[in-house]
Amino acid sequence: MPTLPMAPQVFSILSALVAERAGLHFDASHAPIFGDKVAARAMEVGFDSLLEYYYFLRYDAGGGAELDLLVEQLVVGETYLFRELPPLEVAITRFVLPAIEQGRRPRIWCAACATGEEPHTVALILAARGLLNQVDLIASDISNAALRRARAGRFGRRALRGEVPAFAARWIHTDPEGVSVEAQLTDAVQWQRINLIDGGRWPEMGLFDVILCRNVLIYFSDDTARRVVANLNQRLRPGGVLVVGISESLLRFGSDLRCEERDGVFLYEKLA
Ligand SMILES: C[S@@+](CC[C@H](N)C(=O)[O-])C[C@H]1O[C@@H](n2cnc3c(N)ncnc32)[C@H](O)[C@@H]1O
Repeated sequence: MPTLPMAPQVFSILSALVAERAGLHFDASHAPIFGDKVAARAMEVGFDSLLEYYYFLRYDAGGGAELDLLVEQLVVGETYLFRELPPLEVAITRFVLPAIEQGRRPRIWCAACATGEEPHTVALILAARGLLNQVDLIASDISNAALRRARAGRFGRRALRGEVPAFAARWIHTDPEGVSVEAQLTDAVQWQRINLIDGGRWPEMGLFDVILCRNVLIYFSDDTARRVVANLNQRLRPGGVLVVGISESLLRFGSDLRCEERDGVFLYEKLA
């Protein structure tokens, strides 16, 4: 397939532009894959030079909107139902249930929800415990395309990597083409587009008991990840918890959240 060559200098300025917009960090080892994806998009919208495409993205009135569409091509949306389930169950048992028992309405934010499998998993756990209507559940991602699919509550076959756990069976329907989740679960989630590096705009979101930010910080530079974690921390209630992916650690960022082991999983807690 024909493509457009990407000089190292053009890689530098284009990858810096993407990092500025979405936090995504591409180093030289990612240059070939980055180049292929950017070239495919540039050609699709009618450019025959990546430098001209860069100038368009950076300086043209329509550049910002196109940059968002380019970011859609660069994000990794890998996710599935019941992924890394124990931390979700522990967060609900330890941080959501006690709030309800105290007469509060707890709030959960799933902060990079991709095509929705993760917030649907949270909704399934809550529904199975009869708690779905007692919790605010917000799910967000930078990708509008992913959010459109999430809102449909319908997934491909890869959304299910094993058996449906018994607790969820009542709300999940599988067929040869994929998996669907009952509409009441999808409707219980407030879906929003939020860019994780725009933390300054979040105060109006209020505070959360549980924030899930799983398997996304790995795509950011350490500096960006540190900033995102600090902004998420600002959105946690005292006594709330941040859950990251099981292969991720915040320890090197020197965050003032306290890493605690609870029922066999590691969670980052904000002092009450
Ligand atoms: C690998 S998926 C993780 C999905 C889910 N959290 C999980 O663990 O299964 C990463 C998601 O992060 C999103 N993402 C990447 N950069 C982002 C940003 N700056 N703001 C918000 N979401 C972002 C991508 O669009 C993608 O949907």
